[in-house]
Amino acid sequence: MYSSKITGMGFYVPDNVVTNDDLSKMMDTNDEWIQERTGIKERRWIKEGSGDTAAVMGAKAAKIAIERAGLIKDDIDFIVFASLSPDYYFPGGGVQIQDLLEMPTVGALDVRNQCTGFVYSMSVADQFIKTGMYKNVLVIGAEFHSKGLDKTTRGRTVAVLFGDGAGAVVLSRNEEAGKGVLSTHLHSQGKFAKELSVLTPSIQKWVPALMEDPDDLSYYPYMNGQLVFKHAVVRFSEAIEEGLTANNLTKEDIDMFIPHQANLRISQFVQRRFKLSDDQVYNNIMYYGNTTAASIPIALCEAWEKGKIKEGDLVVIAAFGSGFTWGSIVMRW
Ligand code: UT7
Repeated sequence: MYSSKITGMGFYVPDNVVTNDDLSKMMDTNDEWIQERTGIKERRWIKEGSGDTAAVMGAKAAKIAIERAGLIKDDIDFIVFASLSPDYYFPGGGVQIQDLLEMPTVGALDVRNQCTGFVYSMSVADQFIKTGMYKNVLVIGAEFHSKGLDKTTRGRTVAVLFGDGAGAVVLSRNEEAGKGVLSTHLHSQGKFAKELSVLTPSIQKWVPALMEDPDDLSYYPYMNGQLVFKHAVVRFSEAIEEGLTANNLTKEDIDMFIPHQANLRISQFVQRRFKLSDDQVYNNIMYYGNTTAASIPIALCEAWEKGKIKEGDLVVIAAFGSGFTWGSIVMRW
């Protein structure tokens, strides 16, 4: 049986930097609150008229990943695209990537697992490679959050958290024993579906019904922040433990931990729990906010660009988010 490994990575974030002070001009918030509770200093928000969307940013990140893999677009066998903020209600953004990159008519699959979207997408790609069906799979996470946020004081608990951006990897067939993706682990618990959600417009409440009630703001993201936080720290830890146990490894074996960038406090809690040093964890939520499905590939790529991931390193990835969904990936670089 084959295994898979990352052969190329890329990320793209819009130029437009939005600081906490910028937000305090739109809503009743302040730099101190945001930094203390989340660690975020600034985020990137797409500027109106720039042309960027989740698919456009995803394609930009993908182009870099394909080039760094030493491949051309025609070498890619399949696309997996994760986003909670796609350009259209349907079709999903995967087909746009195929078109934007002028790729052959390969399959394109859309994954809707929010903050865990990239972990799920990697797992799907890994299975296709393991079975021998595909050799090179493009895996993308991209989000255009800023246009869908309630940027008034009413929405401040959520609006200050999210940023726009995209990250991509090429996952390729691996011939070297003990290298690449060692295992992936996926979970969900739908009884908490509404605790972090955007409920409309949906088939249950389509646009005309929504417009009848001006007080119905269910098209904005809602998050039960404290409940999500409590579950996140538990599930992050479980997912890491599960990945280590499955590979007969211990926390001492971890060289680099890349957490989904939901809140610096969550990452720090997990870091302490696993007794990891600052050099063994990569965080960049300070500069990009929470970019949901894009956060892990952006962080992974940036850590690698900074030389923090080396050949032979054990890299552990974990995510938790809306669904609830959570999961992990264990990789030998
Ligand atoms: O990526 C998906 C997974 N997401 C997560 O894992 C996020 C998990 N949750 C969190 O990170 C945190 O719950 C938040 C950062 C979202 C919120 O932090 P918190 O410490 O749980 O704050 P809170 O919601 O309990 O609010 C505390 C206070 C409230 O005021 P009162 O009621 O104590 O007077 C809020 O109204 O802070 C107020 N507040 C704000 N103040 C200034 C809420 N948002 C803001 C804000 N600026 N942006």
